[in-house]
Amino acid sequence: MNLFRKKTVDQLVADSTPLKRTMRTFDLTMLGIGAIIGTGIFVLTGKGALTAGPALSVSFLLAAICCGFAGLCYAEFASMAPVSGSAYSYAYLAFGELIAFVIGWNLILEYALQAATVSAGWAGYFNKLLGQFGLSLPVELTAAYGTTPGVTTYFNLPGFVVVLLITWVLSIGINQTKKTNDIMVMIKLAIIALFIICAVWYVKPSNWQPFSPYGIYTFQPGSTQPYGILPAASIVFFSFIGFDAVSSSAEETIEPNKTLPRGILLSLAVSTVIYIIMTLVMTGIVPYQEFAKFIDAPVAGVILYTGMNWLAVIVNIGALVGMTTVMLVQLYGQSRICYAMGRDGLFPKFFSEVHPKHRTPFKGTWFFGILTAIAGGFININILFELVNIGTLSAFIIVSAGVLWMRRTAPDAHRGFKAPGVPVVPALSIIFCLVFIAGLNWETWVRFAIWLAIGLAVYFGYSRRHSKLEGAGNAGAPQVAAAKAE
Ligand code: ALA
Repeated sequence: MNLFRKKTVDQLVADSTPLKRTMRTFDLTMLGIGAIIGTGIFVLTGKGALTAGPALSVSFLLAAICCGFAGLCYAEFASMAPVSGSAYSYAYLAFGELIAFVIGWNLILEYALQAATVSAGWAGYFNKLLGQFGLSLPVELTAAYGTTPGVTTYFNLPGFVVVLLITWVLSIGINQTKKTNDIMVMIKLAIIALFIICAVWYVKPSNWQPFSPYGIYTFQPGSTQPYGILPAASIVFFSFIGFDAVSSSAEETIEPNKTLPRGILLSLAVSTVIYIIMTLVMTGIVPYQEFAKFIDAPVAGVILYTGMNWLAVIVNIGALVGMTTVMLVQLYGQSRICYAMGRDGLFPKFFSEVHPKHRTPFKGTWFFGILTAIAGGFININILFELVNIGTLSAFIIVSAGVLWMRRTAPDAHRGFKAPGVPVVPALSIIFCLVFIAGLNWETWVRFAIWLAIGLAVYFGYSRRHSKLEGAGNAGAPQVAAAKAE
């Protein structure tokens, strides 16, 4: 038994099954922006402003730099092995099966909980929108149990329904998904632009003083929660999660060697610019301490603060659309990871069966869509939120380490895109990720360890024996050949 049996690039490419290739740089960038801009900016900026003050924009910049370093590493791998599965496939290539399984398992956690988390944020904005039209759901059905202290809620009905609707869209095919996503991302960007153009006139530069009231990292008397630019960066890191989903679509991409790196880096760059402008505008309008008043919907809160109530309805719709695209891309990414793991025998075949007409991994998409809807319906997202970050950060670390490793072990492999500044860039990516992980609380570490333990039980109980590489004797160093992925 070899736990570190590897795949070659040729094997990865040969294992690809013919999903339809329809995605170009534009679609990938839209896919990335669709996945990135959502709950982070529409919900977490309130907590971020309270934690860092106006220097929240610097926290966003730090998180963007971390993701930028990791994004360069993702882009290099994506151009070298343009196949489904993202970090999972890259780990198979660099470190072998066991690590690949662990990363795939973490990505499932990341995508499922993220979509569930976003479905809770979506429900919050949906409930507000209903309220603006004088309507409401029974309060018990507005959120999962224990979401809002002092309010008795049991089930997040809006989030549950929207996740099932998205699952249906995904299951009927990438073409429809691509169009749906492109339109929704356009709407999201237009509404963000409208917000910035209308709100910027209300900025009072005096609100940016003091710019960084808590410095880099500090504790306030009587509080166990850290304040400052770094803790806020750990929070808003969530806002950038999603660009990695772009690389999951390699097998549906035209000329993936070129378009994947472009899609990843462009979507990250556009989102960073938007975040920094938005946070500067928001903290320039509202004194940072006052974000406590509208912590659940800070963007809407800023608009109401200016008195432009007409804009609040439009922005609520924008937030809903924005979060819908995030869930769409996350569920899409998840189905492709499961597809890749099913194809490799690490999960039952069920997950890799492609629908004869729609050419999508239909069953796996529905299986995890339903589980995600149930998780978002019943589980208090405050408990699970940090798990998303730790799952993602662990994947970033493996991908960055993988770039370092592959440059040593396979220096001549065909790379459509080479990350600049190796080894410094991947090393910085790893350091940033470790710093952000260190900022998470110990309960998250324990929950993450439990999830990993379950994963290892699945691997040793099922996957190891059913792996396609079982008996193939493929244990050597990665023999990377020139991969022609088209
Ligand atoms: N980056 C995604 C969001 O902010 C997860 O919703």
